[in-house]
Amino acid sequence: MIRIGGSRTSRALARGASGRGIAELVGDFGHQLPPRVAEAVRQAAADPFDELVSKRGRRGRSSGWAAVPAPLATYRMTSEQVGGVWPLISSDGLPPTGALMGLDFLSGGAFYADPIGWTVNGVAGVTNPNIMIFGAPGQGKSGTVKIFCLRKMAYGYRTLILGDVKDEYEPLCRALGVQPHAVGHGLPARINPLDFGPLGNDWTALPAAEAQRRAAMVFSRWLLLVRGLVGSQHVQFTPTAETAVAHVIRELTGYATGATVLREITLPQLFAALKEPSPQLVEDCRYSSRQHLLDDTRAVRDALGSLVTGHLAGLFDDFTTVAVDWRAPIQSLSLSRLNPLGDEAVGVALTCLNSWGRAMTQIAEPGDLRVIVRDEAWKQMRLGVDAVKSLDADLRLSRDDGCVQIIAAHKPSDMLTVGDAGSQAVAIAKDLMHMCGTKILLGQDEKIGDDLSALLGLAPMAEQIVTDWATAAKGRALWLVGNREFKVQTVRSATEVALTDTNDQITGPSPSNADQSTAGQNTSGQSASGRGTGGQSRPARPAASAPAAGAGPDQAA
Ligand SMILES: Nc1ncnc2c1ncn2[C@@H]1O[C@H](COP(=O)(O)OP(=O)(O)O)[C@@H](O)[C@H]1O
Ligand SMILES: [Mg+2]
Repeated sequence: MIRIGGSRTSRALARGASGRGIAELVGDFGHQLPPRVAEAVRQAAADPFDELVSKRGRRGRSSGWAAVPAPLATYRMTSEQVGGVWPLISSDGLPPTGALMGLDFLSGGAFYADPIGWTVNGVAGVTNPNIMIFGAPGQGKSGTVKIFCLRKMAYGYRTLILGDVKDEYEPLCRALGVQPHAVGHGLPARINPLDFGPLGNDWTALPAAEAQRRAAMVFSRWLLLVRGLVGSQHVQFTPTAETAVAHVIRELTGYATGATVLREITLPQLFAALKEPSPQLVEDCRYSSRQHLLDDTRAVRDALGSLVTGHLAGLFDDFTTVAVDWRAPIQSLSLSRLNPLGDEAVGVALTCLNSWGRAMTQIAEPGDLRVIVRDEAWKQMRLGVDAVKSLDADLRLSRDDGCVQIIAAHKPSDMLTVGDAGSQAVAIAKDLMHMCGTKILLGQDEKIGDDLSALLGLAPMAEQIVTDWATAAKGRALWLVGNREFKVQTVRSATEVALTDTNDQITGPSPSNADQSTAGQNTSGQSASGRGTGGQSRPARPAASAPAAGAGPDQAA
């Protein structure tokens, strides 16, 4: 028996030992091995690319290539299921709840913003749902805020824009089917900062204790407002002056005389009562004479005078005419018409709106969630320590009110110019930043980056994200959520691009936008910017079509 694979035979073959070869062996059984073709000697081509090959490859059998679809399976699923199907994708560690904002570049996953959820569920370091957003002009602060508000609407959040100083939220309002209110000279809208707000509802039906509780809330808010207005004139609101104002408020509303229905009052009424004080007021406030009272309250009257007879007359000195639909998804008050009056006038207007807005949110029912936006809030904060205190009070209440308060500013020093270094105002302004559980830091230059690091204790790498990575594209930001940091690019959907574009103000409307705004004129009979005749001329912005409810980024998983 012949063992071909046997160890002796193979060893002999390997040694090249003399003997019969495999071919002969196979021939003994009547077979023939195929002849071996001599290998062609390959000549190395002098030029390896001497021949042009078409993109389909060489012609001929067994050559060329054909485009075939990649053998990939396609799956469709909700983002909730993705984690189950691909468990190895790392997450950013935050629960995927709230508004899907865009991409987290550190984890490679999606980034969701849910300030109230973070607060309630105890994400480390988030003790309140407030957001402070810093960024150089044009980096996308307002864009980020608009996208956040829009996407939060899908979760039942309503938005209140407390002072739109550039009228840039108007397209968003219109897209959501809401007509924004414009405040300015020559316009019919009046806002009474001494509005009762919803606290005045069903006053007669209230039990005495509840009526008293509400009256205390209303009066303290009004006093805070008057304090802010007086402070804006850089005048001290003395305790005696405060007693006098509080007394007048109680008298005018009828509270002092035990009226069952409180009368709403206006700033001119308050002004008049302080200008012509009653003997009762002089006595009750323990002034030695009428003149004493007049001298002591002069600063208060002068401050109120700017709203009653000064350059803001006719805006905040009458009963509110704006019918706020509190169930609407968004409400906004456009203030751009006040800009020619200067930053201080805008600041005073923002202070009045602030008070009014607080009235509107004061008795929100549980589960009635809101986003309150204060874009360009520094204009208000520059008015002085009382304006800062007023903002501070709002931020402290946000947790109880179910509100996400958003404050947008260029840089921290905007907040710190309220007073001298080391002053009370600066201390409160610094505190204000710590009253915001979430901070969004869009691109800044190196100098401001240093300021931010000093104030917020950023590590060098985090600072570099702000001064380098974030400046490379709009909408990029370092999100500080409590103790944690996220490197996020906010991603806009096609609809949102039109709603967040503010470049038209500089460059004029693009042809496609111009078409849209003309279309807006045809249907609504007025310009897309909402202006009638007589206003400052400014290019109209697009009236974008309404997004579907809960529209998220088109890139969403
Ligand atoms: N997330 C984003 N991605 C890309 N571009 C954006 C984004 N957010 C805003 N922009 C663009 O940047 C420009 C300036 O944005 P804006 O929000 O007005 O800046 P800021 O409020 O910081 O001055 C807008 O015209 C908008 O088109
Ligand atoms: Mg802006």
